[in-house]
Amino acid sequence: MQGSARQEPGLFLSAMPALSLENVSKVYAPRSRGFTGWLAHRPARRGFQALDGVSFTVEHGEFFGLLGPNGAGKTTLISILAGLTRASSGRARVCDYDVVDDFRQSRRSLGVVPQEIVYDPFFTVRETLRIQSGYFGLRNNDDWIDEVLSNLGLADKADSNMRALSGGMKRRVLVAQALVHRPPVIILDEPTAGVDVDLRRTLWEFISRLNKEGHTVLLTTHYLEEAEALCGRIAMLKQGRIVALDTTPALLARVGGADLEDVFVRIMHDDDYLGVSA
Ligand SMILES: Nc1ncnc2c1ncn2[C@@H]1O[C@H](COP(=O)(O)OP(=O)(O)OP(=O)(O)O)[C@@H](O)[C@H]1O
Ligand SMILES: [Mg+2]
Repeated sequence: MQGSARQEPGLFLSAMPALSLENVSKVYAPRSRGFTGWLAHRPARRGFQALDGVSFTVEHGEFFGLLGPNGAGKTTLISILAGLTRASSGRARVCDYDVVDDFRQSRRSLGVVPQEIVYDPFFTVRETLRIQSGYFGLRNNDDWIDEVLSNLGLADKADSNMRALSGGMKRRVLVAQALVHRPPVIILDEPTAGVDVDLRRTLWEFISRLNKEGHTVLLTTHYLEEAEALCGRIAMLKQGRIVALDTTPALLARVGGADLEDVFVRIMHDDDYLGVSA
């Protein structure tokens, strides 16, 4: 899979959505029936339904927010898009590539910043990014790697070992890893959890710039003021179902909340509220 680190935003333009989910459900398997230990005599439990008939699309160039309380299914949905988890039913596509049938192309179209910090302690920051570039068939990617490092305030850490970085610095590297192949679609799963004001600012400046250049962004966050400021459209998930989907101004206007946090709290606590539209 050879390729160039530089992709023109014009290439992202397509009549098809950047992300599309059609009736996606996910039931996590129950405890294995084959277990022969002390739990084996207990009746088998049913699986856990983490997503229940989720459908929406994200158009190219959108900055889209996916919000919901802990356990709502946000990371599950992202894992399905990234091909890390299989949907139990329904279809998911990235840039019109099916996440199962066209896994390589769909994965290549995505940069995912995972919620959990995972890293290899044996490499430096630059080595980590070069290895990641290699996964996408990119050689001689150092110009772009340097640009990403500098935009994320990591330039002076390029030769530091991953183990020696603070938690917030490691999270910056996760963001850099997701961007290393200049993916048309960027998914950020709570990228600002536990990071300082500096990174929030530099991160949002950089991601907003990439969005203006044509990259599609899907963001999950519990910082609702971030979502309100950045996202043009927002979906809210509750117990695996979409309970609101609209433009940010329309959500604010329809529920009449002072800010997105008010709207969110009201929607999450009002069982009868149906906010799905645009
Ligand atoms: N591998 C798994 N096996 C069984 N249940 C799982 C698994 N992964 C997630 N779940 C369950 O699925 C539900 C949705 O989890 P998920 O991580 O998608 O939520 P989330 O919206 O990302 O929450 P958070 O805001 O805490 O990150 C939760 O109840 C979780 O316990
Ligand atoms: Mg999550």
